[in-house]
Amino acid sequence: MVLQIDHESIESFDLKRDSNTIMEFTNPRDVVTTALLAVLVLAAAARTDAALCNKFDEAALLAVKSAFGNPSALSGWNSTVACCSWDGISCNAATGRVTDLTVFSLDISAPVPAAIANLTALQTVNLAYNQLHGSIPAFLGPHALPNLTFLRLDGNRLSGPIPPTATVFNLLLAGNQLTGQIPANFADAVFGEVRLSDNQLTGDASMLFGTKKQLNALFLSRNGFRFDLGRVELPEVMDILEIDHNMVYGSIPAAAAARKWLAFNVSYNQLCGPIPQGKYTHRFGPKHFAGNKCLCGRPLAPCT
Ligand SMILES: *[C@@H]1O[C@H](CO)[C@@H](O)[C@H](O)[C@H]1NC(C)=O
Ligand SMILES: *[C@@H]1O[C@H](CO)[C@@H](O)[C@H](O)[C@H]1NC(C)=O
Ligand SMILES: *[C@@H]1O[C@H](CO)[C@@H](O)[C@H](O)[C@H]1NC(C)=O
Ligand SMILES: *[C@@H]1O[C@H](CO)[C@@H](O)[C@H](O)[C@H]1NC(C)=O
Repeated sequence: MVLQIDHESIESFDLKRDSNTIMEFTNPRDVVTTALLAVLVLAAAARTDAALCNKFDEAALLAVKSAFGNPSALSGWNSTVACCSWDGISCNAATGRVTDLTVFSLDISAPVPAAIANLTALQTVNLAYNQLHGSIPAFLGPHALPNLTFLRLDGNRLSGPIPPTATVFNLLLAGNQLTGQIPANFADAVFGEVRLSDNQLTGDASMLFGTKKQLNALFLSRNGFRFDLGRVELPEVMDILEIDHNMVYGSIPAAAAARKWLAFNVSYNQLCGPIPQGKYTHRFGPKHFAGNKCLCGRPLAPCT
């Protein structure tokens, strides 16, 4: 049993270290040296396994487990095994700091644990599909967790507003009970993906747009957003726009005709005017445009 656990952690340790090692050697004649080094790294991993987990991070994770009510699904989170080998946890192999925290779909009913704020090397947090309630804490952002680039809290029961500190590159908050407006400072943040569908959010979302922004996927469906879509600049990289069931008005920007859409849904808003005609908008049927004020042109009725 102990042997098997050691083996698993050596493998993950070695994989990460090995790719670092290879990058250090630019000369292919050093392959033998690299292989020798890999053996040494493997041996070192076996010796340092117990020390691999940062002890403050381990204490924080045990506090997280306790705040979650010590669910049986997390019984493997105990001190008999280094915390970097616990289910849902990954670490930086060199520092033993926790970089990834995943507690997915375990039906946990609790607020987001404050102890997560002590895991300051986190890069990804995924607590999706539980029964988390209360508000989204302000520490879930790059101010408190400087390397956090991925935050999944979708499918919970979180309420209250989105904190202005949640400027995380991949921000997935769909399917909660969030209210209020998108924080104004999100205009200056860098996002790649924003998923806010199925909440009770209101107001403007146009600050997320901009030609040169990196936002490639935006999901706002089934909220109360109200803004003029005709005035936004679609990001050049955007290929997913799902904004059905809001109160978005104006027209569909002409630039939509030239985008390579993977998904596009503006149905059930208050849009008006001609649908921009392009190769990728032609892939979408009437369902993607239905229920607006006066959109016209293919795939809807011709403009008069
Ligand atoms: C501690 O975790 C191991 C798995 O890593 C598990 O086999 C063991 O039952 C756990 N101990 C307790 C007290 O839950
Ligand atoms: C964070 O860690 C410090 C000690 O390192 C501890 O005093 C504090 O209670 C921890 N905070 C939380 C929220 O667990
Ligand atoms: C964040 O990432 C950078 C670059 O990978 C690293 O140097 C730094 O130590 C990380 N910060 C923390 C708190 O782990
Ligand atoms: C677009 O939205 C409409 C209305 O909610 C829905 O019927 C349709 O399935 C959606 N299309 C896609 C591809 O999500």
